[in-house]
Amino acid sequence: MLASTPTADPFTLQLQQIRGLIEAHQLPQAAQALNAAQQQAPKDARIPLLGMRLAERAGNLERATQAARRALALAPDWHVAQIELALLLARQKQGDEAISLAMRALASAPQEAQVMVGAINVALSAERHEQTLKWAEDGVRRFPESAGIRLFLARFLAAQGRLADATTHYEFILQRLPHHEETLQGLLSCALSMDDQARARTYAERLLALKPFDENARYWHAVVHGQTPPTQPAQVVTGIFDGYADQFDVHLVRGLQYRVPERVAQILLEHHPDRRFNLLDLGCGTGLVGVYLGRIEGHIIGVDLSEKMIEQAARHQLYSRFHRVNVLDALRETPAEHYEAITCTDVLVYVGDLAPVIPNALRILKPGGHFIFSCEAAAEDEADLVLRPSQRYAHKASAVERQCREAGFDDIRIEHLPTLRMENNQPLPGFLVTARKPPAA
Ligand SMILES: C[S@@+](CC[C@H](N)C(=O)[O-])C[C@H]1O[C@@H](n2cnc3c(N)ncnc32)[C@H](O)[C@@H]1O
Repeated sequence: MLASTPTADPFTLQLQQIRGLIEAHQLPQAAQALNAAQQQAPKDARIPLLGMRLAERAGNLERATQAARRALALAPDWHVAQIELALLLARQKQGDEAISLAMRALASAPQEAQVMVGAINVALSAERHEQTLKWAEDGVRRFPESAGIRLFLARFLAAQGRLADATTHYEFILQRLPHHEETLQGLLSCALSMDDQARARTYAERLLALKPFDENARYWHAVVHGQTPPTQPAQVVTGIFDGYADQFDVHLVRGLQYRVPERVAQILLEHHPDRRFNLLDLGCGTGLVGVYLGRIEGHIIGVDLSEKMIEQAARHQLYSRFHRVNVLDALRETPAEHYEAITCTDVLVYVGDLAPVIPNALRILKPGGHFIFSCEAAAEDEADLVLRPSQRYAHKASAVERQCREAGFDDIRIEHLPTLRMENNQPLPGFLVTARKPPAA
């Protein structure tokens, strides 16, 4: 929108500085500078578009949308304003208007690969999957050398289970960019999902050769060699959830019958009918535990690695604060006896080994407090910790119970859930643990 060029005029440079302030989250300074710029050039559509970014950063989607509409009113044929407004509307599920604006933008700037990328993201955000696929395929035809569009298409096809098609596109990118990490990663995941161990190993070797000390490369190398690494690296987690945040609630709750946060909220309210307690929600995701709980008298603190998931959770305005850190770090660094309750729903499937989790949860809880968490179930004749082909960990209930008891929890209740959620149209069994720290004597 405000690309820095050596010939940029002073006013454009001024706008670029304002954008820098917004990106650095210096919002009051940005607002002041933007007001001054607006007085200088009231008809410049770039100014309301910056206003849109400012409002978006401040978490005010309604204001952001108004500002984007103002920009479009000033420059009705400007494809940037069309796409920016379309993206905002798509995020608010106003799909029809979003798609029609994206179409206008594509018609206004047919040669711009960036507009194609924008349109694809509009369709994705509006959950118009057919349109997303159509535009991504069009994009690859019209901009065959755009690795970004092809990568998107490959990822989209892989997510839809079209692994062979995804592999073809990934291979195309790899021929041109033989060291492209994300492409190697995509090929590796496809090979694993197709149970092609030999090819998975080849890609894992290439990934590790590229980055021998990288946690992610080491993780995949261990996985393809049949080992169970103790935890998933942050990059694997954010790779899944940053791209999934917009659709998470609809997909998991409605599509996959995921009910754990609702049940957890119920248990919390049984323990605290007066709603007076402080809660640490580890791996808060889009904030479903908070949503089912509603407003409480204490604080809800959310921890998650995915910025996009936190953005969704922040919209509910129920959490007092968020920390974008690994739950393992949060557990290690939170002072003792701080919370009446800790929740961790559908997160330990990514965290894996509970050895650093359970004792720290006990330490952080106030006496009498509860740690409530869900696990995917491993059968009793399996290992205590199993990494499934889905790349999620399953835990054995008896081992989890033992770990809680050995850490010092006294009242440990395990609720077996025949359907933790659906997977490949089959119920996936799991269990919910409620473990109490002994009350003060
Ligand atoms: C399936 S979602 C569940 C979200 C929420 N707890 C719920 O039940 O709706 C898993 C969440 O855990 C987060 N997550 C997974 N591993 C994590 C880790 N090691 N540290 C922090 N967040 C993690 C992901 O980013 C994602 O938002």
